[in-house]
Amino acid sequence: MPTEQEVMEALRQVKDPELHRNLVDLNMVRDLKISPQGKISFTLALTVPSCPLREQISAETRRVLQALPGVSEVEVVFGAMTPEERRAALGSAVPALPKLNQFNKVRHLVAIMSGKGGVGKSSITSLLAVTLARQGYKVGILDADITGPSIPKLFGLPPGGLRGGDQGILPAMTHLGVKVVSTNLLVKAEDTAVIWRGPVISGAIQQFWTDVLWGKLDYLLVDLPPGTSDASLTVLQSLPLTGVVLVTTPQDLAALVVRKAMAMLVQLNIPILGVVENMSYFKCPDCGSVHQIFGPSHLAEIEKAAGRPLPSVRLPIMPDFAALADSGKIEEAQSKEFEQFAPALLQKP
Ligand SMILES: Nc1ncnc2c1ncn2[C@@H]1O[C@H](COP(=O)(O)OP(=O)(O)OP(=O)(O)O)[C@@H](O)[C@H]1O
Ligand SMILES: [Mg+2]
Repeated sequence: MPTEQEVMEALRQVKDPELHRNLVDLNMVRDLKISPQGKISFTLALTVPSCPLREQISAETRRVLQALPGVSEVEVVFGAMTPEERRAALGSAVPALPKLNQFNKVRHLVAIMSGKGGVGKSSITSLLAVTLARQGYKVGILDADITGPSIPKLFGLPPGGLRGGDQGILPAMTHLGVKVVSTNLLVKAEDTAVIWRGPVISGAIQQFWTDVLWGKLDYLLVDLPPGTSDASLTVLQSLPLTGVVLVTTPQDLAALVVRKAMAMLVQLNIPILGVVENMSYFKCPDCGSVHQIFGPSHLAEIEKAAGRPLPSVRLPIMPDFAALADSGKIEEAQSKEFEQFAPALLQKP
C-alpha cells in the first residue's frame, strides 16, 4: 500500500491540461484517504465545477494511481474551489491578463422569484427579456435554476452552447440578441441531470455572475429556482440585486407563499419591483368573456401585505403560449400586457 507522500508524488505527474501545472501544486487534491485495503479516495477541487476537462483529469489520476503497488481502487469525488482559492490557483498559473468581465456593466440586476414552483417564473423571465429586447434594451438572462434549468429550451438554444477561456465565459445568444447563461448550455444533452450539492450550486451561480462576459446590459434577469431554497438565498444574498419581481397565481396557497417570500425580502432589505399574477384569467377567444379559472385575483391582498402600491400585471392564460414555449419559439410570443408593464415593473421603487 502506498503512503500519502507516494500518492501525492504520483499525483504531481498529472497536470491540469489548461493551466499546465500539476494538481498538487494547484492545491486541487483534498481529503486524501488511503484504506488498509488499498483504496485511495480524495476530492478533486476543480477551478470551475463544470470543468469540461474533468473526465480527462480524473482518468489521468486513476492511471497514475493504479500504477502504484497495492492500490485496489481509486475514488475521485469532484468538488469546487472557493472564489479565493480559484483566484490563487489561476493567479499563480497564468499571466495576469485583465479579466474582460471587469468591463461588465449591468444597470438593473433583477431576480424573478416565486413562493412555489410551476407558477411560470421561467416563462415570465423569458417574456420579460423578449419584451425588453424588442423595446431596444440590452438584456441577459442568468438561469440560476442550476439543477432544473429551462431557459435554453424556451429559446431553442442547443446544449453545449457556452464557450469560454481564461478570461471568462461567453453567453449564448438568442435571435433577438438576449444573452443567456445556464447549466443546460454546459451539458452535452438537454436531458442530462445535473446532480450537484448545495455549495457547488451556489458556486456555479456566483460564477455565472462573476466569470461571464456579460458586457454592457440594461437588464440582467435572474431566473430563480422555486421557493426559498439555498440557491435562491445565494442569489438574494450575494448578487447586487436592484430588486425582485414576484410571480404568483390566483390560488390561495400561492398568495400565502408569496407573502412568505415577501417577508424574506423585507428581512434581506431587497426591494420588490413588481408582481406578476400569472394565469390570472382566461379570455374566451370566441365571445370575449373573462373567466377566473383559478379563482379571483390576490393582487390587492399582496399589495396590502407590502404596505404600498406595487406595479403589477395580470397575465392571462395564453393557450398558444405553451406550444411556443415547448418548441423553443418563445421569442415569437406576444404579450400586450407585458409591453405596457415591463418597463414599469423595472423602475426603481
Ligand atoms: N400565462 C400562461 N399561459 C399558458 N401557459 C403558461 C403560462 N405561464 C406559464 N405557462 C406554462 O406553465 C408551465 C410552467 O411554467 P414555467 O416553467 O415557466 O414555471 P416555473 O415557475 O419556472 O416552474 P419551476 O418552478 O419548475 O421552475 C409551462 O409549461 C409553461 O409553458
Ligand atoms: Mg423555472
